[in-house]
Amino acid sequence: MFKGVLFDLDGVLTDTAEYHYQAWQRLGKEIGITIDRAFNEELKGVSREDSLTLLLAHGGKTNAFTSEQFTELAARKNEYYVEMIQQVSPKDVYPGILELLKSLKRQGIKLSLASASKNGPFLLKKMALKSYFDGIADPAEVAKGKPDPEIFQLAAKNVGLTAAECIGIEDAKAGIQAIIASQALPIGVGRSEDLGTDIALVSSTKELTFEFLLSIWNTAKA
Ligand code: G6P
Ligand code: MG
Repeated sequence: MFKGVLFDLDGVLTDTAEYHYQAWQRLGKEIGITIDRAFNEELKGVSREDSLTLLLAHGGKTNAFTSEQFTELAARKNEYYVEMIQQVSPKDVYPGILELLKSLKRQGIKLSLASASKNGPFLLKKMALKSYFDGIADPAEVAKGKPDPEIFQLAAKNVGLTAAECIGIEDAKAGIQAIIASQALPIGVGRSEDLGTDIALVSSTKELTFEFLLSIWNTAKA
């Protein structure tokens, strides 16, 4: 049986992936770059700086800014985002997530956060979920963000496990790639058009029960 679950946050525990999108859209508008939801799929799970690099490339503005301006743009996007998440509360936790965390705890399974977001700890607190997590991987500690496996490996290590002993749950393409590369077993929250047809998928977090996770694990390891 799996010994740990490595959770992404934005788009898995709550709807903050939408706020990231809106914040990038707002920044994009200010610098003359339009983005849509299809392009946003490329940004999901990707660190703040890497997202900005992708955004600038998308708008054909890769060399349009100095490194100081780049830093300012990343900070500005974060300001917009932080403004939006002030109101997040336990009511915003996605359906089924609290029940899942509780049942995993009852089963003695370690829970670890593998979010690329530096705002992760703040959001866990806002949603009153912090006490469920045995570990939180600090994205500042990893050299390479998703799709590199490092953050999932660190999240597993923080709770005394290897990634191969864990299930990883993600809503982003880059995140699923990172889970696969870490040798954890992926479960995607989203559509096969975005996340692929070769992994277990749920369309709603309501489907994420302990029994479901166990059946995915047993099927994969049979
Ligand atoms: C998560 C989100 C990304 C975001 C990244 C960094 O992975 O899915 O959209 O860019 O975290 O978040 P931060 O809050 O540190 O800017
Ligand atoms: Mg996510």
